[in-house]
Amino acid sequence: AEDPIEVDPYQNAKYSCQRVTPLVNPNQKYSDALELLEKHAEFLGGDNNLARALAFRKASAALRAHPRPIKSMSEVENLNDLKGGKHCKRVIQEILEDNFSTEVENIQSDEWFQTMQTFTGIFGCGSTTARKWYEKGHRTLDDIMQSEGGSLTLEQMKGIEHYNDLNTPVTRCEAERVLNIVRNEAEKILPGVTVIITGGFIRGKSSGHDVDFLISHPEEGKEEGLLAKLLQNLRKYLLYTDIQRKTYGEVSSSKRQNTMDRFERCFSIFKLPSESEASENGAKGEERYQDDGQEGGNPSKKMKMSSEVDSPKSDNKKTWIARRVDFVITPASQHPFALMGWTGSRMFCRSIRDYANKEMNMILTSHGLFDKTKNQFLEAKTEREIFEHLNLPYREPCERNC
Ligand code: GTP
Ligand code: MN
Ligand code: MN
Repeated sequence: AEDPIEVDPYQNAKYSCQRVTPLVNPNQKYSDALELLEKHAEFLGGDNNLARALAFRKASAALRAHPRPIKSMSEVENLNDLKGGKHCKRVIQEILEDNFSTEVENIQSDEWFQTMQTFTGIFGCGSTTARKWYEKGHRTLDDIMQSEGGSLTLEQMKGIEHYNDLNTPVTRCEAERVLNIVRNEAEKILPGVTVIITGGFIRGKSSGHDVDFLISHPEEGKEEGLLAKLLQNLRKYLLYTDIQRKTYGEVSSSKRQNTMDRFERCFSIFKLPSESEASENGAKGEERYQDDGQEGGNPSKKMKMSSEVDSPKSDNKKTWIARRVDFVITPASQHPFALMGWTGSRMFCRSIRDYANKEMNMILTSHGLFDKTKNQFLEAKTEREIFEHLNLPYREPCERNC
C-alpha cells in the first residue's frame, strides 16, 4: 500500500528520544492497551515480568510516535520496537479487527488487578507491598486500616487518609495556584529565585498525579539552605513531608535507589485551599471540594471509605484538597540536566540515557553529561545544548510524551 504522506525518518528511529511523540496521537487505543499490559506485568513483579513491562512500554512508545492511525498489521510489523513482540502484535491485531481486546478486558475485570490498582493508589505503597496485602487476604482500604494499621508507614497512613483527594487528578489550574503560593514564599526568602513546574504539565498534559517543582537560583550556591526555610514558611499548607538531603557532592551513594537522582528534595502532600476560600475567604460553598471523590479521577480507584478518611463527617464543607507536590532544589550548573530529567517522560529519559550510553559513549544523568571518550564532563546552559552534545535533533517537552 503506497502512502502519499511522507513520514519523518526519525519517527521509526531506534530510540524513542529521537522521535517526535506528541501528547495526543491517532493510535491511543493501542498504546492504552499496551500500557495496561505494562502495568499488569509491573504488578506481577520479578525480573522477567519487569522486562516484559519494558517491552510493552517500548511498543506503546513506538505507536505513540506513529503519525497515522494503524490500518494493517504490515504497518505494525514495520515498527522497530514491534518486530519481535508476538504478544504485542496479537493484542494490536485483536483491536484492529474487533476494536477491543479480550485479554485487556479480562485484566480490567480481574479482582486481583483491581485490588492491586486500589492498593498502589495509596501514596507510599508499591507493587510489592500491594501484592503482600492481597496475599494476606486484604481487598479494601478498610481491610488495610483494620489489619495493617500498626505496620503502616507514616507515608501510607497519610496516603490512606487523603486517598480520594490524591486519586483525583491535579488540574493545571490547581498546579498554578500551588505555584503562586510556593513562588511567593520562595521569593521572600531568596529574591531572584526561579520556581518552575516540570513533569507532565510542562509536556502539555492538562492534569497529572502531582505537581513537580524545580527550584533554583541563577547564582550557583544561593539555593543552599532554601528548602528548609521554604518548608518552614509553607508549614500551614503541608500535611506531610519527606525531606531528602542532597548527596551529589558525596563519594559513596546513600541508600537511595540508583534510579533516583541526588538532589535535595521534598516529596509532600500539600493542603490547597479551594479557590473561593483563597480569594474571598470562603464566602460561598459552590466551589468547595466534596470529600467523597465523586468527580474526576480514576473511577476504579474510588471507593466508599469509613468516616475517618479525608475529613470527618462533621466537616462536610471541606474547603481544601490534598495534592501531591514534589520540590527539587538544583544548583544553576546542573539545572538543564535536572530540567530534562524532571520534564520526563520517564520513557523519554530512559531512552535518551540509553542512547547516550550506547551510541555516544556518554553518561547522562539529571546532574550532568560525562563523555567517556574525552574523559570529561560536558557543560550545558540549556536543554538544547544537551541535545547538541548528543547529536540529537531537539525535541520540545510536548514532543517527549513517549
Ligand atoms: P504525572 O505526574 O502523573 O502527570 O506524570 P509525570 O510525568 O509528571 O511523572 P512524575 O511526577 O512521576 O515524574 C516526572 C518526571 O520526573 C519523570 O520523568 C520521572 O522520570 C522523573 N522523576 C521522578 N522521580 C524521580 C527521581 O527520583 N529521580 C529522577 N532523576 N527523576 C525522577
Ligand atoms: Mn508529575
Ligand atoms: Mn513527581
